[in-house]
Amino acid sequence: MRRIYIFDTTLRDGEQSPGVGFTTKEKLEIAKQLEKLKVDVIEAGFPASSPGDLEAVKEISEKIKNPVICALARALPKDIEKAGEALKNARKGRIHIFIATSPIHMKYKLKKTPEEVLRLAVEGVKLAKKFNCEIEFSPEDASRTEFSFLYKVLEAVIEEGAEIINIPDTVGYSVPFEFADLFKKIRENVSNIEKAILSCHCHNDLGMATANSLCAVKSGVSQVECTINGIGERAGNASLEEVVMALKTREDFFGFSVNIKTTEIYRTSRLVSRLTGLPVQPNKAIVGKNAFRHAAGIHQDGILKKTTTYEIINPSSVGVEQGELVLGKLSGSHAFKERLKKLGFRLKEEELENAFKSFKRLADKKKEVFDEDLIFIVEEEALRVPQIFSLDYLHTISGNQVISTATVRIKKGNKVFQEAACGDGPVDAVYKAIDRITGVKVTLVDYSLHAVTEGKDALGEVMVKIKKEKEIVSGRGVSTDIIEASAKAYIDAVNRLIYREKQNK
Ligand code: KIV
Ligand code: ZN
Repeated sequence: MRRIYIFDTTLRDGEQSPGVGFTTKEKLEIAKQLEKLKVDVIEAGFPASSPGDLEAVKEISEKIKNPVICALARALPKDIEKAGEALKNARKGRIHIFIATSPIHMKYKLKKTPEEVLRLAVEGVKLAKKFNCEIEFSPEDASRTEFSFLYKVLEAVIEEGAEIINIPDTVGYSVPFEFADLFKKIRENVSNIEKAILSCHCHNDLGMATANSLCAVKSGVSQVECTINGIGERAGNASLEEVVMALKTREDFFGFSVNIKTTEIYRTSRLVSRLTGLPVQPNKAIVGKNAFRHAAGIHQDGILKKTTTYEIINPSSVGVEQGELVLGKLSGSHAFKERLKKLGFRLKEEELENAFKSFKRLADKKKEVFDEDLIFIVEEEALRVPQIFSLDYLHTISGNQVISTATVRIKKGNKVFQEAACGDGPVDAVYKAIDRITGVKVTLVDYSLHAVTEGKDALGEVMVKIKKEKEIVSGRGVSTDIIEASAKAYIDAVNRLIYREKQNK
């Protein structure tokens, strides 16, 4: 069976989702999880875009050894040099060079003639050969490029040494049969195409990214570029979990294999959702909360008689397990550690101790602690950015006949600061008091709240996005008290903002 390579670009194109920005620590955490998922290639970032991205690609190259680590670069010497530098310590590195080839992009965006674009593409590949890396080339906006020019550029870059040819449907304009046909044409008209691996990169503007990718596979493509939860620029990219599970579930039709460890899919999806602050829609295929729920009586009856009546995928094959009651108030640290091990966490001693304390605090408030709760606690601990500010005390008064007021105490190093404020509701009052303490001027641009598990005592997870000038940063807070979760999320976002500013200096 021909193998289809899975190229994950969550850390690069996924990071281009509006309002998303990872810290290096978060990128590394996701990269580790992608390694567990067994993706073939991780596109770790765009080193020339910021010092933070350069550092993140370097770090991932040093620490993640199984997948190929890829860095994006425009067809410009300074970008390619930066990508090469970032990948220096990768076991296997790949420089991904792109330049737009469609008439509209060349004329209005690049303000370059086709001859200049061709020259830059070829010179870019030539320069990239200096580094000990694989070379991938993408003609940006390929699906709106004139065929003859596309063939000419591809032939020239392959001749120069590009080993992977990626065809992006940059603006999600193509439709499945047309996209498949484009690959047929490329195979027929680019004389040296046999020397390269063909790849596709689809955006979801018309909701066809997965369908286009699968049609491309049927038409000779061996690498699919995709992201976890389908995140990415505008409407996003082809979703990894959809592409992989379509290839697996319909192996009878496609006849291709993938190396993905599918039982890691759900956990990866949740991690990415948490760190991007982008919730997964309930009806999202494969990883949505409702993906394996059956509501209609006839369906429930069918499922009880034989699961395959209404289930084409076994939920446990993508890591979705039924909520299991695991620990309670009286559970000790040994049981806690063992459970975490079973859930696949390997924490440092200090992280483990802190997570255990959080678990005890939670168990005091909540009778039943589920796996889901544990995962939230642990991830909150392990993924924490430096705690410049931390919540010490919170008191709010609110009601339909009173003006909401909040008193907040926050620690910064050894010092404790206290402020009070009135607001339009308790959350607003808390946020105003926090603003007074931190002195960081930000605007709240997004706020969402959801229950992690079921029941009145469920943990509430708050995700916020704050904006300072052009920078948007997300934060997350978890508690059985939603006002406390809101305060934690806001402080987390401020800490991330400060951390990001330091990283990018
Ligand atoms: O969508 C696109 O064209 C891209 C390229 C950089 C591959 O993301
Ligand atoms: Zn893209």
